[in-house]
Amino acid sequence: QAAQKGGYKHFMLKEIFEQPKVVTDCLAGRVDWAREEVTLPELAALPVPKRLHIVACGTSLHAGMWGKHLLESWAKVPVSVEIASEFRYRDILLDPEDMVLVISQSGETADTLAGLRIAREKGVKVAGLCNVVGSSIAREADAVIYTQAGPEISVASTKAMCSQMVLLTLLALYWGRRKATLADDVRHEALSALRKLPGQLESALPGMRDEAQQLARTYSKARSFFYLGRGHCFPLALEGALKLKEISYIHAEGYASGEMKHGPIALIDPEFPTFALALADDLFPKVKSNIEEVQARRGKVIALTNPGVEVRVDNPWVVPAAWGPLAAFIALPALQLFSYEAADYLGKDVDQPRNLAKSVTVE
Ligand code: G6P
Repeated sequence: QAAQKGGYKHFMLKEIFEQPKVVTDCLAGRVDWAREEVTLPELAALPVPKRLHIVACGTSLHAGMWGKHLLESWAKVPVSVEIASEFRYRDILLDPEDMVLVISQSGETADTLAGLRIAREKGVKVAGLCNVVGSSIAREADAVIYTQAGPEISVASTKAMCSQMVLLTLLALYWGRRKATLADDVRHEALSALRKLPGQLESALPGMRDEAQQLARTYSKARSFFYLGRGHCFPLALEGALKLKEISYIHAEGYASGEMKHGPIALIDPEFPTFALALADDLFPKVKSNIEEVQARRGKVIALTNPGVEVRVDNPWVVPAAWGPLAAFIALPALQLFSYEAADYLGKDVDQPRNLAKSVTVE
């Protein structure tokens, strides 16, 4: 096992550090860089859907929620993101021109697989975004796009989410091109940013880990945490909170920043810290005012942000920027590293957290 961990203390840490390679591998063969074109031959035979229903669980669900922003903005495909265990028991309205996209690292999650079967019974095309080759979802979907994350051993999913986000970005670019809804300059910016990501991540990860270690020492005695984000950072807030719960057993809630004032802000006090996603984007001024609301209740704040952003908090955590929504690819490992370091500091079983399974194959 020690050899399999490649010198890392835990699989989770190894998998977090594999993300630069994951991005490279997910892009390999899918982008014609000279012509600035994405190819997804797996979907070539299927029309661009009128509506897309993304169905998934856990971390894969958060990837889907993040992808919705790009798919709607670039490909102008309306997207609903559905918790698989809800989707399967709802009287769901599906049109023959719709498509269901199931996202699953393992390809075996019972609820997600059930969602796939229901959609197919209703005569709707199903595409699968899976990591495990030959898994049930991969076999039963009309089309399967494999994420090239490699085997993920740690129960808490990290690199798989990164790979799903790369493929969702490519899907938005691909359908955006097919529908001619995507401006050339956006495609150009997105592809150049994607191309730079592996290098950026590679050089940022060691420093991010050091920072995560410091912050984890300061904050891991907290009993509860808020994670706040807006826009495409809202799913990241949910994921940050999920990671912290999963492996450190610290209670955490992910919230859309603007929704805080509708209840949860009542919980804020000096013992209830907030992890705010305050990246350099158009919504930053809004996030900033939400941070100030937390501070007015004497809540401590860690703000994950980018160079040049003015944010006065207890712990600003500056990570490199990336173009537009692709900044998420650098924010994600920061969230993962923070929970990893908190769990490790607290002496938890990082790779095998209590009560959790890597793949939930029963309902
Ligand atoms: C379990 C795992 C999570 C994972 C979820 C969905 O709960 O512990 O890490 O995100 O299942 O798994 P899937 O394989 O469908 O992506």
